[in-house]
Amino acid sequence: MSDIIKPTKAVAENGPYIFADILDFKGLQDIVVNHRIDWLIHFSALLSAIGEQNVPLAVRVNIEGMHNVIELAKQYKLRVFVPSTIGAFGPESPRNPTPNVTIQRPKTIYGVSKVHAELMGEYYHHSFGLDFRCLRFPGVISSDPPGGGTTDYAVAIFHEVLRTGRYECYLKPDTRLPMMYINDCLRALWQYMVTPKEKLKRRVYNVTAMSFTPEELTAAIAKHVPEIRISYRPDSRQHIADSWPQVFDDSEARHDWGWRHEYDLDRLVLAMLEDVKKQYIT
Ligand code: SER
Repeated sequence: MSDIIKPTKAVAENGPYIFADILDFKGLQDIVVNHRIDWLIHFSALLSAIGEQNVPLAVRVNIEGMHNVIELAKQYKLRVFVPSTIGAFGPESPRNPTPNVTIQRPKTIYGVSKVHAELMGEYYHHSFGLDFRCLRFPGVISSDPPGGGTTDYAVAIFHEVLRTGRYECYLKPDTRLPMMYINDCLRALWQYMVTPKEKLKRRVYNVTAMSFTPEELTAAIAKHVPEIRISYRPDSRQHIADSWPQVFDDSEARHDWGWRHEYDLDRLVLAMLEDVKKQYIT
């Protein structure tokens, strides 16, 4: 595992952790050579909401960073995974459901950078035989604090409600978005990466577990925290959400390499209440 920030104690104790700057090609070469790396999972990116606040940085991290990674993977014959997102679609895409192949005209720099990553990966695959693999994830929900995404209300709500009983949501109550619990996300990634290449009909697949609205999430949390109070004050993130898929069609992933989610809304809520309590509420 690598990053440009200091690891938490838990992360440092959980396995090897080194400094790596996605913008430093030589530094990345050094790591691949000295640690005999054969797979590269490339998670670095500015998410949708934060990307709009600093477009030049998003271009550097999301686009130039991806160029470094894919060139490195080609040179050293690495298997490379790059996540894409529901954010790679836009208002002209069918939103309910959104199939694997359809119009992609995203309106955020994050979405544009992810479409670019998908196309670069497919290009390196067919031109150079690179083993590029990409999953389009929905909103991924874990107990880690929110990181500048549009789907992050579904993370923040657990932290706020467990601390204060209240949450002010920046999306309207009926905004439906596809979502997935972190365990399903990591399991999908792993299962996809070990699938023999003969089974893959494409290099970019939609995956998802469920779709819900802030109102529906609140109702599911209220089964365990009846005193929950939620209010709504939509901001610019509402426009982003309104251009994204509401229901994600991942039937090709289910058919080609056997993707199955394990967490539905009720199971997700139980797991999140437990995770956030354990890690953040004393
Ligand atoms: N969770 C991401 C975001 O909201 C979507 O990929 O930006």
